[in-house]
Amino acid sequence: MSQSHLVAALQSAFGSDRILTSTEAMAGYLVDWTGNFRGEALAVVRPSTTAEVSALMRVCSENDVSVTAQGGNTGLVGGSVPLDGLLLSTVYLCTFEDFDPNSGQVTVGSGVTLAQLQEFAATHDLEFGVDLAARDSATIGGMTATNAGGIHVIAQGMMRKQVVGVEAVLPSGEVISTLRGLAKDNTGYDLTQLLCGSEGTLAVITKVRVQLHRPVATQLLVFGVDSISAALDTAAGFIGNISAAEVIDRASVECVHRVTGISVPFDSSFHLLLEVRGDLDFEALAQHEYLIVALDATDREKLWALRERVTESCAAEQVGVSHKLDVSFPQNTLGDAYTQLCDLLDRDGVTQVVIFGHLLDGNFHLFFTTPAADQEIEREVLELVARLGGSISAEHGIGRMKAAYLHLSRGESEISMMKALKSAIDPQGIMNPGVLFI
Ligand code: FAD
Ligand code: MLT
Ligand code: ZN
Repeated sequence: MSQSHLVAALQSAFGSDRILTSTEAMAGYLVDWTGNFRGEALAVVRPSTTAEVSALMRVCSENDVSVTAQGGNTGLVGGSVPLDGLLLSTVYLCTFEDFDPNSGQVTVGSGVTLAQLQEFAATHDLEFGVDLAARDSATIGGMTATNAGGIHVIAQGMMRKQVVGVEAVLPSGEVISTLRGLAKDNTGYDLTQLLCGSEGTLAVITKVRVQLHRPVATQLLVFGVDSISAALDTAAGFIGNISAAEVIDRASVECVHRVTGISVPFDSSFHLLLEVRGDLDFEALAQHEYLIVALDATDREKLWALRERVTESCAAEQVGVSHKLDVSFPQNTLGDAYTQLCDLLDRDGVTQVVIFGHLLDGNFHLFFTTPAADQEIEREVLELVARLGGSISAEHGIGRMKAAYLHLSRGESEISMMKALKSAIDPQGIMNPGVLFI
């Protein structure tokens, strides 16, 4: 379908001021956060109601035009920029409705950012279970579609655990809704959970009903440790009371220091940030030679910045092509995995190697650069992960970036079952083609 025909069809579907077609106007939507994935689109559309999304989807399915949903465009696996067709931005789907103070549930539009939801929760003395550094841009729709993780998975679970129900528009334009928010509803397949982690390949999520929680007071401890196993042993002393457990290697903190000036507490191979609930046993803490206990909110923020600023600091210092790999391992292989990853990346042409992540989720984030694009080294890393029984994607999803490697983490029959679901729901294959499956 030509761009002019499509735009005319869209304009009759809804107002033209929310349809972008010029190269300049579309530019920001067509490159991902890493800069590694660039896309094309006939148009960027920005619907403001579910009915408009439904009308849009009808136009696209009738004309076989592919649709890529985009929230905050902070995804890190190339799933949010289209190869062609229509980019559907959820930026104007930003309602708050049906807040229930007793259950602590609220229904939000997909385009509501994590920061906006956190702000809403705080006004009701509540908090949201998932937190991540991209909070100002990442949207609740995108976080649901990628089943985002973040720093509190150990205590609160991934995004899918916070999601009580969704409203979504299928490729045909039909609307499904599981927003009732029932604590128990055992009536057939769980379509809510099916859409969590679907990465825009099945439907456009238009609303999400989420569960908020009463905040629990925590204290932030920062340890200097010399190995991953020492970090795990230290964390073991607080098991049951941990709200976050983040590990950052020496290269990570040195990069943050160089870019932001934030001082590095210890001259140690790793820094371990533990957010713990309950009273501290200062006698037991005294045995740790390298330990800081954050005394107040300012201290806490400065120490958390050491971890939260790693991603942007790596990007700021990047020379050449960046590789960001989000992988997970069985916890008892974590120390060995770290060593094997370092050995694998210790070669000419690979620079700025940084490894950090969510320790008790077994989730490492690797960042490294090469002078030019290099699929080979990414394949080697992902094959190492598979050999150690890990997952090629811990929390960022598959996107375009890892679609060719899905078989390293999912069995043949699982992949054919997922493809059967995809073709039943999206028979024309218009939803985010190239994402999740090659
Ligand atoms: P986008 O990037 O816009 O889209 C991501 C995927 O979801 C795409 O496939 C897109 O098609 C699909 N999608 C988006 N909206 C919808 C919708 N309404 N309906 C259907 N499909 C949709 N991720 C983590 O898990 N944990 C972290 O700790 C974390 N930290 C980060 C820190 C930084 C600095 C950055 C830049 C990213 C980080 N991320 C993290 C990655 C990213 O923030 C998450 O993947 C987030 O869930 C993406 O949300 P988004 O709204 O930006 O989605
Ligand atoms: C994080 O935990 O900081 C994110 O997942 C982002 C990243 O991997 O860079
Ligand atoms: Zn992460």
